[in-house]
Formats: sequence, C-alpha cells, structure tokens
Amino acid sequence: MKLATVVLAAGLGTRMKSALPKVLHPVGGKPMVQQVIETLQFLKPASSVVVVGPENEGIRHALKDLPVSFAVQKEPRGTGDACKAAVRVLKKFEGTLLVVSGDTPLLTAETLHEFLRLHRRRKEDISVLSFIAGDPHAYGRIIRKGSTVAAIIEDRDADAEQKKIKEVNSGVYALEAPLAKLLGEIRLNEGKGEYYLTDLVHIAAGKGFRVGAHPLGNETELTGINTRDDLYRAGLYLRDRVLARLSGKGITFMDKNSVFIHPGVEIGEDTIIYPNVHIEGRTVIGSGCVLYPNSRIIDSVLGNGVVIKDSTLIESSVVRDRAGVGPFAHLRPGSVIGPSAKIGNFVEIKQSVIGEGTKASHLSYLGDAEIGNGVNIGAGTITCNYDGRKKHKTIIEDGVFIGSDTQLVAPVRVGRGAYVGAGSTITREVPSLSLALSRTAQHHIENWALRRQERDSAQKPLRNGNRKGSGRTAARGRKKEE
Ligand code: UD1
Ligand code: CA
Repeated sequence: MKLATVVLAAGLGTRMKSALPKVLHPVGGKPMVQQVIETLQFLKPASSVVVVGPENEGIRHALKDLPVSFAVQKEPRGTGDACKAAVRVLKKFEGTLLVVSGDTPLLTAETLHEFLRLHRRRKEDISVLSFIAGDPHAYGRIIRKGSTVAAIIEDRDADAEQKKIKEVNSGVYALEAPLAKLLGEIRLNEGKGEYYLTDLVHIAAGKGFRVGAHPLGNETELTGINTRDDLYRAGLYLRDRVLARLSGKGITFMDKNSVFIHPGVEIGEDTIIYPNVHIEGRTVIGSGCVLYPNSRIIDSVLGNGVVIKDSTLIESSVVRDRAGVGPFAHLRPGSVIGPSAKIGNFVEIKQSVIGEGTKASHLSYLGDAEIGNGVNIGAGTITCNYDGRKKHKTIIEDGVFIGSDTQLVAPVRVGRGAYVGAGSTITREVPSLSLALSRTAQHHIENWALRRQERDSAQKPLRNGNRKGSGRTAARGRKKEE
C-alpha cells in the first residue's frame, strides 16, 4: 500500500512568543520540523509534503537536503485548511496519507510503524494516534462511542464532562485517500476562526466510515511543543535518551545533568566525559578518550585515547589518536591534529595540518599552516597569514624547532630540521638544517645603570621644586646616552 506523508508546519506558533517560526526551534540541535521529516523518512513514503506559510524561506532552507515538496497555506486558517493545501499538491494520490504535526519532534518511527500496522489491520478509513495525558488540557479529547470514535473535541470547545477525558489526540492521523474529499465539509470553528482537521473524525463517523483511535506510545514522545517550557522539557527528554544510549555502550559520564550531546553523535567505549561538555552535530569520538569540563565539540572526529583538557572549543576538525588539546584551546574549522600531537594552553589553530608528535604548547596562532612531524612550536609563535587582502600558507617541515615569540610572515617555508631563534620575524624561506635569526643583536652599555643612579641623585632637589621640568630633563638625558 502506497504511503504519502503530510507535515503541518504553517501555524504561527504564537504561544512561543518568538520571531522564529515555531517549527524551526531546535530540539537536540535540529529544527523540530527537520527532526519530524527525518523520522518520517524511515517509513519510506512515496511522497512527502510539508505545509508552510507564505514566508517560508527558513523552513525550505532547513529542509533543503530532504526529499520533500512544499504546499503553501496562504493564511493560517487552521489544521483542516493546512491539510487541504497538502492534498492539492498530492493531486490524485491513491493510498494512505499519514498526517503529522511539525511540532511533535520526539515521535519515533517505531510508534508510527505500529500505528500504520493497526490502521491497516483494522481496515480503518481514518485512524488517530492517541495517548493518555497526565495533563490533557492542551489537547483535543477523544470522544469514544462504543467500539468506535465519534469525535475529537478541542479543550476550548469541551464541556466539563469531556474535559475529564484523559485520552487525547496526538495530531497524527492515517487516512485513506478518498477521505480527503471530506476536508471540504469541515466548517469554520467560530470561536477560534479556524478549520479544525479534528472535525474530519466527526464528519467521517457520521457518514459510516470506519474510525479508530489507538493509544500508542507514551506522553513524552507525543508531546506537542507549543510553549518554551514544552521546548525545554523536550530537549531534556531527548538529552536523557541520548545519554542512556551512550551509557549502555560503555561511556562514563561524571554528571549527566550538565552534559548535552546531539542524537547523531557516536562515542567509543571507556571514554570519560566530565561535567559541562557539549558534543554537537555529526561528531564521532573514539574509545578511551577523556573530555575534561567545559568543552564544546562540533562536527568533529576524535580518534582513540584523545585527551581534551578543560574549556576547549573544537569545530569541524580532526584530532588523531592519543593527541592532547587544551586547556583553553580553539581548533577552528579544517584543522587536523596528528597522532600524539600536543596543542596546549591558549593555542588557536585554523585550517592547518599538525603532524605526528608535534607540540604547540602555549599561546600560539597557527592559521593556514602545514606543519610536519616532530616539530616544536615555541610559546607565542604566530603565523601572519593575512596581508589585509589574502590568506597565505606557512609550511614548516619535519623536525623543525621554532623558538618562542616567532612571527612567520606567510607565504613562507621552514625547511626540514631547521631552527628558528626566539623572537625572530621570518619573511623568507629558511633552508633545511640551518639556523634562522632575525632579531637585532644584543649589545651592552657598560655601567649604564650606575650612571643613571648618579644622574638621578644630582637632579633630586630640582625635581622637588619643579616636577614637570625635571622629568623632561631626565628623559632628554636618557635619549642622549642611548
Ligand atoms: C492540535 C489538534 C489537537 C491535538 C494537538 C496535538 C487541531 C484543531 N487540534 O492542536 O486536537 O491534540 O494538535 O499536538 O488540529 N498548522 C498549520 N496551519 C494552521 C494551523 C496549524 O500548518 O493554520 C500546523 C502548526 O504549524 C502545527 C500543527 O499544525 O505544526 C498543529 O497546530 P497547533 O496550533 O500546534 O495545534 P494544537 O492547538 O496543538
Ligand atoms: Ca501543537
């Protein structure tokens, strides 16, 4: 049986009090509508339609890599009207329509599979995925009549008896294509000024179609995100789900309450994660790593036995086996840190390859650099990679020693095994195995301090009488000497 999925995402989401459309608010690092569509892809639908409002660039952008088509609902006139817009795009589709709200990001493919299985086995024309809510006030109540479902009544339209019903509508429906014709029979709900998709249940039941509701899944999974508090709770639930999966795979967490890991992250066993660590996007971390507190790792790959010391930021980079990064280090996109390399305190690396066993332990900026194996980068080394217009490359070959406080003015190369003396400004290629020195030679002025002392004491009375004048005289005197 063919399946088409419809995601309703054109609502204003006014309860979020946000300039951002509700369905673009992220849960677990992804806009919730993207999360919903990705889940629906597991059902392998023949087509997927997303209903959006007229201002939909943000949603189209978020879904640009997914196989969906868009239906535009010109005005947010309710879920019934939104569904109609989708049906217009699906044209002559024959099969089952699975309609889902864009604001239920925790929904799982397993629950949807089970729901569709029941829908087909019971040969229902329209099925509703329901659940038992602890606090049902935000949902439409399922009104059962014997073995069938008579209607769904929204909270604002429900009487006191109906309000007591705990079985509620999750906003997920399976309907056979011919039922779509009945969407035209939905009347405007005067109170809300909207066409309610939920009214389709009452209309279909009245015409003798088979209607069912299936209380599957749990309340947390089926929660609709309407407010910032709903969003917060959904984020925590998703976080706990991810951490439980990773704990089960042999990862130690020192404090699960302060760690945030996106669902797509993979981590190898015996890795230890300290408090306040954030791991985002498509990051893959090997086994036996230690991630000390306050680090954030985004879209990166870490090998085995890597140690990330406190307060380090790693973006779109690779850190190979046994390397160490931090504390207070920043790997900007495109950095590759070789095996057993060491990137230490206050080091920033951008779009650079660092070789095996190479060390940059303190206070450096290495940008657009290619650094070989076994190189020592002294404290305070800076690649001057930008000339105000363009970026240039610095190449440092294997076994080089760069003394502290060196500036490498790119484009520049330091040949194999060469040494650069501390405090040098390197502007030309340094030949292999040579020593480059570009600082001014040190010279001494004999007894200079002694003479200064004598001069100071000679000027003392004058200074008491006229501070300003004496200071100037002293300065002039110094200049002459040097
Ligand atoms: C809806 C259901 C309610 C159910 C709940 C489950 C109706 C009338 N009510 O209520 O029975 O318990 O979901 O979470 O359907 N949307 C549009 N166009 C519109 C209005 C809404 O595309 O004109 C989209 C929204 O973007 C959202 C979804 O439809 O993704 C649901 O809309 P929302 O306003 O959140 O409905 P609820 O009041 O939660
Ligand atoms: Ca909702």
